[in-house]
Amino acid sequence: MLAPVHIPVLVEEVIQGLAVQPGGRYVDCTLGGGGHALAILEHSSPGGQLLGIDADPDAIEVAKQRLAAYADSCLLINDNFVNLELICYKYDFLPVHGILFDLGLSSLQLNGRSRGFSFQHRAPLDMRLNPNQELTAADIVNTYSEAELAHLIKTYGEEGYSRQIARRIVQERPIKTTLELARTIEQATGRRRSKIHPATKTFQALRIAVNQELEHLESALKQAVDLLGFEGRLVVISYHSLEDRIVKQFMQREAKDCICPPGTPTCVCGHTASLRLLNRRVIVPSPAEVKTNPRSRSARLRVAERIISHDEHYNIVEKLCSTSEVKANGNGWRRATLLRKLRQVFAVS
Ligand SMILES: C[S@@+](CC[C@H](N)C(=O)[O-])C[C@H]1O[C@@H](n2cnc3c(N)ncnc32)[C@H](O)[C@@H]1O
Repeated sequence: MLAPVHIPVLVEEVIQGLAVQPGGRYVDCTLGGGGHALAILEHSSPGGQLLGIDADPDAIEVAKQRLAAYADSCLLINDNFVNLELICYKYDFLPVHGILFDLGLSSLQLNGRSRGFSFQHRAPLDMRLNPNQELTAADIVNTYSEAELAHLIKTYGEEGYSRQIARRIVQERPIKTTLELARTIEQATGRRRSKIHPATKTFQALRIAVNQELEHLESALKQAVDLLGFEGRLVVISYHSLEDRIVKQFMQREAKDCICPPGTPTCVCGHTASLRLLNRRVIVPSPAEVKTNPRSRSARLRVAERIISHDEHYNIVEKLCSTSEVKANGNGWRRATLLRKLRQVFAVS
């Protein structure tokens, strides 16, 4: 039986943002149900290539089915996007025309009754994207001190009742299931008149902490820029303010030629812009999209283009080729092959 489908968000805007073209090569760092990946493959056909990454092995299986018609054009990897650069080296997949991050969770994960991401289904407090990882939400909830819990819930959940929630959690421990935790949070916060369930922010905080989501995002964005070729595109969709702030600040910083503190008489940082911002105002779904897919309502899309000269483009590839990881890599990189590929991919004369 086919799993229920995750409806991809802002698909047309993603395709435009990535400037998908036939024969292009793209990385989807958050493959999920494969909806964006399918659209990318359709628009990059003939000759397009896609490298899809997801930390969740179940997502890879679902995407495999959805992308079956393009099996020869895509490579699906079960890994964390924090390893983006290594994955692209390993599979000779760079430089690329476009990289997509569609952050957060898919409907498959949120609706999955055993993963513990939702406070609407009874499940063990797990919340790991990758089931092989050790740390679970139950470990955090049942072993962190009250002060640590309050800090985590405030920082990653932006929850105003973080101290009350942390105190109640410590009183009620051990807490084993999502529903027990949701009830504990409701008791701590009292009945609030709010559009969102009182457990929403604490569940977000725990998920971010379990999967180190913000640290991994910061690291992967930096890696992504280095993998983009001439005028390559970076497209990121985020779903909450913590993620969006990281993306916005990263892109703004990378779009500047100097990042010295204000008032510095002459530039000492030596920083040069590596990105050009393509949307000054963040792109959000239309009311029609939100109506048909309510989960899209918090989506915010940002697009940037790699600034790089042809010479720099080649220099970067040469530098990448000479790193120890690449030399040690069993797949054996060959510079000549790579340069030939580069010429084909970017039609550089
Ligand atoms: C919103 S869904 C993506 C949906 C997808 N764009 C589609 O059209 O079906 C986000 C996906 O990213 C994955 N993910 C989140 N953080 C990740 C990370 N650090 N590394 C790899 N995958 C990650 C999740 O497992 C989830 O499947």
